[in-house]
Amino acid sequence: MSDTAVEAQRLEIGYRNGRDVTTVLSDVDLTVPQGEFLTILGPSGCGKSTLLRVVANLLDPLGGQITVLGNTPEAARRARKTGFVFQDATLLPWRTVGQNIRLPAVVGGRQARALPDTRIAEVMALLGLSGLEDRYPSQLSGGQRQRVAIARALIDEPEILLMDEPFGALDEITRDRLNDELLSIWRETGMTILFVTHSIEEAVYLGQRVIVMAANPGRILNIHDLRPVKSDDNHCQRDNAAIVSEIAAQRQLLAEAS
Ligand SMILES: Nc1ncnc2c1ncn2[C@@H]1O[C@H](COP(=O)(O)OP(=O)(O)OP(=O)(O)O)[C@@H](O)[C@H]1O
Ligand SMILES: [Mg+2]
Repeated sequence: MSDTAVEAQRLEIGYRNGRDVTTVLSDVDLTVPQGEFLTILGPSGCGKSTLLRVVANLLDPLGGQITVLGNTPEAARRARKTGFVFQDATLLPWRTVGQNIRLPAVVGGRQARALPDTRIAEVMALLGLSGLEDRYPSQLSGGQRQRVAIARALIDEPEILLMDEPFGALDEITRDRLNDELLSIWRETGMTILFVTHSIEEAVYLGQRVIVMAANPGRILNIHDLRPVKSDDNHCQRDNAAIVSEIAAQRQLLAEAS
């Protein structure tokens, strides 16, 4: 059993289009221990979503090595050890909340009934969605839709949760609330979370470490360890002086990366 969630060495990532190969990220070295909350910041187009796709085995790397929980990304995906919350809400509009949450089990070839109703109820309660099971996505607020997307990613109890700007479209108050809910879920489950965001405040508030990526060419510019300024269970106050100064430092770094 590996205690490393993700390990990448000299990873080259990009897209193949017939004979054309576009390299997006080069020379990515990264070790994410199990149970870490890692946030990823970077300018638009630098390759944040692309990096998550490789971890999720939605895209094969062009070169280098990557292991997920000590195995290939494909093995981790097949064993349902990774959950993904996408950048665009991807709920099926013609299915109810309950059916959307059951979707991974159905798509995975398991019978929907193999998933106990108690598990659905448990995940819905965890995300504050109880009572909404029969609604359709169009009958929910944006924040509720994001919660459904997170519930769907959690249904199989993944060991690694990949989140691509999950709260980007929400107002600040809803976002702050969901940040705290996500932190409680992370503390309760002990999951590893890789969380992409454009918000420096969110990256610093949520992450034990923050990766700052740069564009042209896409690469990891800096990995910043915030554990020294946070409590052991990753608690911090948003207005804490050390946190505010971290935010300013990351802003400077990000300006240089763009
Ligand atoms: N399917 C694809 N085929 C070819 N190129 C792609 C594909 N998807 C993304 N790209 C390119 O790869 C680069 C990185 O894209 P990616 O979506 O990973 O960026 P990002 O950092 O997530 O940006 P944003 O913050 O805007 O979401 C961009 O130049 C993009 O145009
Ligand atoms: Mg993206």
